[in-house]
Amino acid sequence: MIYRKKIVAGNWKMNKTQAEARVLVEDILREVGKFDEAEIVLCPPFTALSAVSELLSPVPNVRLGAQNLHEAPSGAYTGEISAGMLRELYVRYVIIGHSERRQFFHEDNATVNRKTKAALAAELRPIVCVGETLPERESGKWKNVLETQLREGFVGFGEKELSDIIIAYEPVWAIGTGKTASPAQAEEAHQWIRQVLSTRFSQNVSERIRIQYGGSVKPENAKELLSKPDIDGALVGGASLDARGFTAIVKNACLP
Ligand code: PGA
Repeated sequence: MIYRKKIVAGNWKMNKTQAEARVLVEDILREVGKFDEAEIVLCPPFTALSAVSELLSPVPNVRLGAQNLHEAPSGAYTGEISAGMLRELYVRYVIIGHSERRQFFHEDNATVNRKTKAALAAELRPIVCVGETLPERESGKWKNVLETQLREGFVGFGEKELSDIIIAYEPVWAIGTGKTASPAQAEEAHQWIRQVLSTRFSQNVSERIRIQYGGSVKPENAKELLSKPDIDGALVGGASLDARGFTAIVKNACLP
């Protein structure tokens, strides 16, 4: 079986000033700064990227991520940030297509495709989010929804592009609600994602790609979720704002 190093990312969303970010990062580094059994990514808001970047520069295993980017390299897009601007701050990862972007900022699979292309062109590693809503799960349509998100989101890509992408399976009904998908439900969805990728791309792609689970991941449920064979890490929202909670999740990802 192919080894996939676990990857735990903290999505801070619209939280933390620069000063608060520094405190949180210092607390996190004290606990897990030397770990290398799992990859760690911190995704602060744009305004704290620079401060966090400075703190992470001497730390090889904790990487900087952004929560969004604009697809164009520059231009008249008031309020937007390009891949090149992120690269300048030593950002390595970027979250794309988070359900909050899809819901509140009307991003669709075509947007995800364009943003992912822009990220890859700038050598940023995209963390592409997919996931179904509660009605889609309850009506049994979740497999179709995930398949469409993957097919449309990855239009025009080949094995090479996929090798730099990380997928985050985030059922919308589990985000910030305290309702986690059960480990069995999450594993089933991750297996389905691999099956779709195997059909659309190749078995090699489906076996190598890392798939994070996201949606109310907490220290209490992380161990069981992360022990599932097809769950390769976590995208953590609320619990990543607290150093103790986040580092406890990271430690669970480091278990053999
Ligand atoms: P949550 O958020 O952990 O607060 O549910 C996860 C996410 O939105 O990435």
